[in-house]
Amino acid sequence: MQDVGRTRSVGGTAYKIVRMAAPDAKAKGGLEDVVATSSAICWLDGDRGILAYCGYDIHDLARFATFEEVCYLLWHRRLPTRAELGDLQSQLAAARPLPEPVIRLMRMLPPSDGMDALRTLTSALAHYDREASDTSPQAQYRKAVRLTAQVGTIVATWGRLQAGGGVIDPDPVMGHAANFLYMLTGQRPNGTAIKAFDVALTLHADHELNASTFAARVAAATLTDLYSAVVAGIGTLKGPLHGGANAEVMKMLLEFGQNATPERVEDAVRAKLARKEKIPGFGHRVYTTEDPRATHLRQMSKELGKRAGNTAWFDMSERIEALVKAEKKLNPNVDFYSASTYYTLGIPVDLYTPIFAVSRVSGWTAHVLEQYANNRLIRPRADYTGPQYPQRFVPVEQR
Ligand SMILES: CC(C)(COP(=O)(O)OP(=O)(O)OC[C@H]1O[C@@H](n2cnc3c(N)ncnc32)[C@H](O)[C@@H]1OP(=O)(O)O)[C@@H](O)C(=O)NCCC(=O)NCCS
Repeated sequence: MQDVGRTRSVGGTAYKIVRMAAPDAKAKGGLEDVVATSSAICWLDGDRGILAYCGYDIHDLARFATFEEVCYLLWHRRLPTRAELGDLQSQLAAARPLPEPVIRLMRMLPPSDGMDALRTLTSALAHYDREASDTSPQAQYRKAVRLTAQVGTIVATWGRLQAGGGVIDPDPVMGHAANFLYMLTGQRPNGTAIKAFDVALTLHADHELNASTFAARVAAATLTDLYSAVVAGIGTLKGPLHGGANAEVMKMLLEFGQNATPERVEDAVRAKLARKEKIPGFGHRVYTTEDPRATHLRQMSKELGKRAGNTAWFDMSERIEALVKAEKKLNPNVDFYSASTYYTLGIPVDLYTPIFAVSRVSGWTAHVLEQYANNRLIRPRADYTGPQYPQRFVPVEQR
């Protein structure tokens, strides 16, 4: 800042012009590499491509755990016993049906973006939760369970209504992944679809201080209620640089078309790169190597495509991956192969980002509970770059 150290007079008072922040307080764009909190929930090593929830490697969880076990792990920092898992399954089953007024509100909303609907309807849930403003840890935990159950029902029911179907009540005997597919399609899903969807939920459940979790924690740190914190997370997840990328990937693949030749796809991707457009589903702030979630989703996309007798979307995705790696040295992230995976499962594109929320609500609530348990207001500083202080105030008639 020029003029630092000089004196200026304003309204008869002399002010010394000072730097507005300490000289070493230079902001790093996007808080890159800034450690903003301590957390016992999720660890990732971007250089080695490791992701672990409470110490458990994501590959083991994807292979062996169910989403419900992962929820328990995130909330309690340990895996459940069989009895504890049974209890959680019962609590989720009991919470899954939506309050009738929320279904009515859902019917009243105009056809709109799935994330907009989810944001509004999750917010509405708070009005029908008698414990909404109960801040005891027990009540906060019960709300975390309820929200996780109900976000799934909202997204599946929204998808069903948008497709012109009628509301399907959740089945208390089915797990979370199976219930979602059942409420969405009205048909009992097969084991392959359930496993694929359950793994997708596990892979998306938490990811340290990603943007939406940070937003939820910032909200929670003001001691606002759990619903408000989760709504902050939903609004943040919607953006195309975050969860919105999975739908953008599928829109791009559809734009190329199922029958597009490899040459056409490669030319189109090269043209995007030449225009400095970002290719959705590539790049990551933390991973410099393969995103370990993408490894599973690539495999799932391939296997589901084979089973469905159509690997066109997988083949196209692989070609794009090779090209973007060669041209930009960028790896696919969680969103790239989740697009063709969900498409092959018959899920409408508009639900891809809401499905991310169906899973991530478990991580958001785990982080919010952790924030409440050891809270301090999150209030960082900015490196001021605006007009010098003090400016002489000029009345509006004289400007
Ligand atoms: C994820 C993401 C937001 C990370 O952003 P970031 O850490 O701020 O990285 P930047 O946006 O600064 O990108 C660094 C460089 O890589 C390039 N880059 C990053 N992602 C890219 C992509 N998907 N396609 C093409 N180029 C990309 C940038 O253009 C930039 O190049 P430059 O230095 O020549 O200007 C970014 O990679 C992105 O926008 N990806 C696409 C959206 C997406 O898939 N989001 C989901 C994330 S899980």
